Amino acid sequence: MDMPIPQTKLADPKECGHVTLIDHANDKQYELPVLEGSEGPNVIDVQKLYRDTGYFTYDPGYTSTGSCNSQLTFIDGEKGILRHRGYAIEELAEKSDYLEVCFLLLYGELPTAAQKAEFGREITYHTMVHEQLQYFYRGFRRDAHPMAVMVGVVGALSAFYHESTDIHDLEKRRLATHQLIAKMPTLAAMTYKYSIGQPFIYPRNDLPYSENFLYMTFSVPSEEYKINPVLSRAMDRIFILHADHEQNASTSTVRIAGSSGANPFACIAAGIASLWGPAHGGANQAVLAMLREIGSKDRIPEFIKRAKDKDDPFRLMGFGHRVYKNYDPRAAILRESTHEVLDEVGVKDEPLLDLAIELERIALEDDYFVERKLFPNVDFYSGITLKAMGFPESMFTPLFALGRTAGWIAQWKEMIKDPHQRIGRPRQLFTGPTLRPFVPIEKRS
Ligand code: ACO
Repeated sequence: MDMPIPQTKLADPKECGHVTLIDHANDKQYELPVLEGSEGPNVIDVQKLYRDTGYFTYDPGYTSTGSCNSQLTFIDGEKGILRHRGYAIEELAEKSDYLEVCFLLLYGELPTAAQKAEFGREITYHTMVHEQLQYFYRGFRRDAHPMAVMVGVVGALSAFYHESTDIHDLEKRRLATHQLIAKMPTLAAMTYKYSIGQPFIYPRNDLPYSENFLYMTFSVPSEEYKINPVLSRAMDRIFILHADHEQNASTSTVRIAGSSGANPFACIAAGIASLWGPAHGGANQAVLAMLREIGSKDRIPEFIKRAKDKDDPFRLMGFGHRVYKNYDPRAAILRESTHEVLDEVGVKDEPLLDLAIELERIALEDDYFVERKLFPNVDFYSGITLKAMGFPESMFTPLFALGRTAGWIAQWKEMIKDPHQRIGRPRQLFTGPTLRPFVPIEKRS
């Protein structure tokens, strides 16, 4: 891109005090610096803890561990707040569009009109994928899960766009970033087309981002395809709502993969693999499966009982969140869009939606869910909306991956530019056997 673009620089965190660590066993005392950000809780800086004390911290699941310094996304889970670069998700979902949010995440500011036009042109220019990639698709079984295909084809981009894999060159990094945002809709649509045996549809660069994606997904060469503005707006909104979410499992995966110097395509493929799990992005598909399993409103109490039973692995899919201990703001926005889409496609009495709303009502009144602050999350509504739009359930998680690519790549880019960046390498508490002599095979019992 020719035009100047705002470049944000990571500020060094400010020290604002210290905490004292008292080691009673060894009769020692250590001072640990406390750092403050612009918002959110202060953190204890333990970077030199091992060097100074000989101790590691122990935090499986990283519930009390900050892994990086970031300026992208702020979440206050207690208050149900989500902001990107200071802008509330509610305002972005209402007044912005997905490409603008991509620009905001990547470059730190909302684009001016000229920057928006230039960025749009640049992304549009890269929407096609190498023709050879078609043959890559043809190696997969038609009934392969779309996430399995996405992990493969996104990782394979590094073989097709090798010139973009030099992470030390700013222009090449920018190219890879734009290629990923541009090509993800094409790859996701191709994945869908392949699974149903229809021809791949080339992108149409006269269409806006989300419309183009719907066109590549749902049009066929033999018929004219009319884009429904309500559906394309809902699609764009779903992408905005999934664009970034701080240091979740898949984003942390992207960062840790990238911390070794791996190329961005490989890192995003790693993020897709992590997102696939049912405790993360796979939950939107799991919500539909669960609603179908429940089947009717009168069976809800039975499933609520199962969700509360510690001896039963069943959980209410689409409920609970590691950081939101209040209503997920994205779920509130999507709840509205769900109804707009259902009205538009004429599904007035979608039984699964009725069931979902009743389930939500009962769970929100139940002491177990209230005490644990288990509210519906974004996956609870995204599945129903996407189903009404005509997507098969297996495509729900690839669509999440498509939207989240903006956040993954912006987080990766931020990490690469961080002067304090080092390879990610957590430690462990070893509880296995200590040294023992090798036992020859004839003496093993
Ligand atoms: N149904 C029933 N009970 C639940 C649920 C649920 N969905 N979620 C949490 N709990 C209970 C736990 O059993 C635990 O109870 P306890 O304190 O009596 O032991 C308590 O609530 C805390 O749960 P944790 O598992 O410790 O919470 P954690 O932060 O580790 O897990 C997670 C968060 C994985 C999202 C969890 O709530 C869950 O499995 N939800 C269902 C899957 C889902 O919707 N995932 C989507 C996440 S959002 C996203 O990726 C966009």
